[in-house]
Amino acid sequence: MIDNTAIIQQTAIFVQENLKSAEAGHDWWHIQRVWNNTKLILETEVADTLVCELTALLHDIADSKFHHGDEHIGPRIAGEFLQHIGLDKGRIEHVQQIIFNMSFKASLGRVDFHSRELEIVQDADRLDAIGAIGIARAFHYGGFKNREIYNPDISSQQLLSKEVYKNTTAPTINHFYEKLLLLRDKMNTATAKQIAGERHHFMESFLQQFYGEWNGDR
Ligand code: ADP
Ligand code: NI
Repeated sequence: MIDNTAIIQQTAIFVQENLKSAEAGHDWWHIQRVWNNTKLILETEVADTLVCELTALLHDIADSKFHHGDEHIGPRIAGEFLQHIGLDKGRIEHVQQIIFNMSFKASLGRVDFHSRELEIVQDADRLDAIGAIGIARAFHYGGFKNREIYNPDISSQQLLSKEVYKNTTAPTINHFYEKLLLLRDKMNTATAKQIAGERHHFMESFLQQFYGEWNGDR
């Protein structure tokens, strides 16, 4: 039986190898940041740390939006890998359940699975969607999809349904109102709530500056 450190190490190598050509908002650097956020949150939480760290590493191994909307491919690839390295069945299923249910997209639909471990990794992933990094990732993704930066004639919709959220082609600024500014109040853990408060404030300042410049204020 290999020890936990070796399991995590092997998983990190597998993920790094697999995400070599990933879009920059969901690449190995994103995974590393989410992994670090997870470890930080775990310092003050009682949870299965192995499940949390493995999920942080594997959560974007095959994102459905880059695989024709297939929401089962990520959990399947993660499960196959974890079986291959000899992780116990209970933990494999737990990791798969979290990956399937933790995304913002999933949270717009019906979620039947809950665990503290899900809440921890979900917070870790969501922290990387806000603040300075969140702004950079959003505009990167918008560019990747050739979206407009901003268009005052296209207003933002709040509380999108899962289908509308997945298929939107709205400008990137709208994504702030459709997702990024909603995340602070959705954090589960005390650590993430505190960090999210600071990052939220930074995004608000950014938007204020953005509209000022857009309108030609000096
Ligand atoms: P989840 O995987 O939690 O459902 P997404 O994959 O939709 O969330 O979003 C992950 C990140 O990708 C976002 O935080 C954002 O940086 C970027 N992103 C997704 N959709 C958009 C969009 N419409 N405009 C700009 N960025 C987006
Ligand atoms: Ni992610």
